Amino acid sequence: RIAYVNGRYVRHADAAVHVEDRGYQLADGVYEVCEIKRGYIVDERGHLDRLDRSMRELRMDWPVERKAMELILREVIRRNHVRNGMVYVQVTRGVAPRDHAFPTKPVRSALVVTAKRMDPRAVEAKAAKGMAVITVPENRWERVDIKTIGLLPNVLAKQAAVEAGAGEAWFVDPDGTVKEGASTNAWIVTKDGSLVTRPADHGILRGITRATVMKVADKLGLRVEERVFSVEEAQAAREAFVTSATSLVSPVVSINGKPVANGHPGSVARSLREAFFEIAE
Ligand code: PDD
Repeated sequence: RIAYVNGRYVRHADAAVHVEDRGYQLADGVYEVCEIKRGYIVDERGHLDRLDRSMRELRMDWPVERKAMELILREVIRRNHVRNGMVYVQVTRGVAPRDHAFPTKPVRSALVVTAKRMDPRAVEAKAAKGMAVITVPENRWERVDIKTIGLLPNVLAKQAAVEAGAGEAWFVDPDGTVKEGASTNAWIVTKDGSLVTRPADHGILRGITRATVMKVADKLGLRVEERVFSVEEAQAAREAFVTSATSLVSPVVSINGKPVANGHPGSVARSLREAFFEIAE
């Protein structure tokens, strides 16, 4: 495997950043994860637009021009022979003597790109089974709309899910409403067949897959309501599912041990998943 690190293509096993990279020391960085399907980056423009927004919100500069970034992504995918899998892009504020405030001397943002192959059959088999979800109290900062590499609450939430035999943890506000998963957006299907997902304000990440699923829903003639929903409403829903670049549309079969409907993946989630690639750019 090959990785891109600050201007060089290096063996993945040897790919490393400096000990004073601000991402490493301070989580002062942002990232994107994109799905690769048949050699193409799914929703590439959406992901790079969001990367741009994350960097602007944190007053970070692009490490290279956007066009160069696109070429680097392609080159990493090519060098790793990835037809199906994912590409990871990370930009940090660069290498500078440790100090919380921004470096006073201008430094170039640091760029790391990796890619990995994933077996589409294994991915499909996993999605067909559906996943259990647990809920955890929301304990993240108020700007989770910025895709930063500061992911400790997400790490701990996902670990709690794994230890409970679940596939995802949903962050829940004190008022009982569902925010999103540790690495996915959360959805339910109401009894009348409408899709419900939380409005994308500063309280959740505006998922690229979430946006594409809205277009897919429109194509399929399904209604989408952007509104808050509670854990109880989700447990009593016709279906629940999560979306992300890596899980695409994945059915949720139980929430805190309570089966959703009959405890099997639902047909709406399945149709959305099947229709996804016809519309994703
Ligand atoms: N996670 N919410 C959170 C907190 C996420 O970390 C992600 C993505 C999403 C879904 O966004 P998108 O559809 O653009 O992937 C929602 C990536 C996959 C990750 O951290 O691995």
